[in-house]
Amino acid sequence: MQTTQIGIIGLAVMGRSLALNMADHGFIVGGYNRSREVTGTLIKEHPHKNFIPFYDLKELVESQERPRKFLIMVKAGKPVDMVIDQLIPLLDEGDMILDGGNSFFEDTRRREKNLKEKGIYYFGTGVSGGEMGARFGPSIMPGGEKEAYEHIAPILEAISAKAQGEPCCAYMGPDGAGHYVKMVHNGIEYADMQLIAEAYLLLKYAGGFTNQELADIFTEWNEGELKSYLIGITAGIFREKDDFADGELVDYILDSAGQKGTGRWTSLESLKQGVNVSMITAACNARIMSNRVEGRKEAKELIESPKQRLVSDKAKFQEKVRKGLYTAKIAAYAQGFDLLLHASSEYGWNLDYGKIASIFRAGCIIQAEFLDDITRAFEKNRDLKNLMMDSFFREKINMGQESLRDILGPGIQNGIPVPAMSQAVAYIDAFRGTPVGANLIQAQRDCFGAHTYERTDREGIFHHDWRFEHE
Ligand code: 6PG
Repeated sequence: MQTTQIGIIGLAVMGRSLALNMADHGFIVGGYNRSREVTGTLIKEHPHKNFIPFYDLKELVESQERPRKFLIMVKAGKPVDMVIDQLIPLLDEGDMILDGGNSFFEDTRRREKNLKEKGIYYFGTGVSGGEMGARFGPSIMPGGEKEAYEHIAPILEAISAKAQGEPCCAYMGPDGAGHYVKMVHNGIEYADMQLIAEAYLLLKYAGGFTNQELADIFTEWNEGELKSYLIGITAGIFREKDDFADGELVDYILDSAGQKGTGRWTSLESLKQGVNVSMITAACNARIMSNRVEGRKEAKELIESPKQRLVSDKAKFQEKVRKGLYTAKIAAYAQGFDLLLHASSEYGWNLDYGKIASIFRAGCIIQAEFLDDITRAFEKNRDLKNLMMDSFFREKINMGQESLRDILGPGIQNGIPVPAMSQAVAYIDAFRGTPVGANLIQAQRDCFGAHTYERTDREGIFHHDWRFEHE
């Protein structure tokens, strides 16, 4: 029997694509799937001299060189635990298990701890880039015991995307760090997609642009500072003709988007950490509202819509939307990286933000030119507290915030929901130290519950005996 260098367990789309990617890079890969048909289809449709199918997990384990390495590519949750339970009795100390799914980081922490007690290394490994990324070069975020990383690094770094020749894969930190970074990547992905959707709504309903014009605008944007995978596919989407009816497919797709949960996790986790990721939360809420398909139909008949008022200068508006989108995007990434900063200290991970930004430069869904600038910002100052404080991004915000404010007006007047862009402005304003009304909130709390307050003119904690008549 040929010795395998890594075993992939779970050969659905992502597992299959990663297996073939490894095989292409010269690694001898053993593959196993619970149902035999999936493995059968894979070797029939994509035969590869470096890919060896297994129909028995024990045989796959026995085929491996030491330390053994397994990449689990099954649905997050219980299925991951089931595979781990099957593997444990077959493994020896020093063997390694990687989980490449979108597992919740707390599950990863628990699994890593349990397996460590058995002498098995566990790596929660974020993988981004969808099917094509997995097949030809994803961005990879492994987290686990540092001393064991060197055993998996050659494989992971070889199959990852490359940005300016560097692999988009790097050791993230211990236990749940890899899956945490992937979770925040997805949270940012939600905000980024929502911002693009809002720019689309503004251009379409306040600007009066056609799909063809939208396609051209996004193509043009993809040549400048907004250049990114998401802007690029958006341009293509506006051009795509429908197979069933006249016109473009985008106009026939139901206005309702699902979510698998990583954006929601980011939002919940941010509240636990006391970090404001309002734009990611806004993106989750926008999807939640979109799912009320029947309710929205009913309410449309009952609640009046404002009269549509198209902007008078389309070209000027288009440029403002571009600048506004870019400015809001900075705020979204600032929020995501702020959460990483807090998590790093909370969990003791010592995350390297510059490194994280650098492995997002290619392969993943949020890949963008912009990530080069984020990488530079954190490399310049490892202690940067917020992206918006970096001189490059500060300057961009100063140049773009007026446009962002200007486009919200036509949005709100035309009844176009722009929750993520609105949150961007609110975040920038609160961040830059404008009054946020918390003096009044302190007063209310002290008035109704003697919760005390602090003063601007002297140190200490005060309670006031509120003299006006109240219950
Ligand atoms: C990636 C993506 C991927 C995610 C999809 C769908 O980085 O390749 O983030 O992991 O599953 O984007 O996510 P939602 O269904 O939650 O939108």
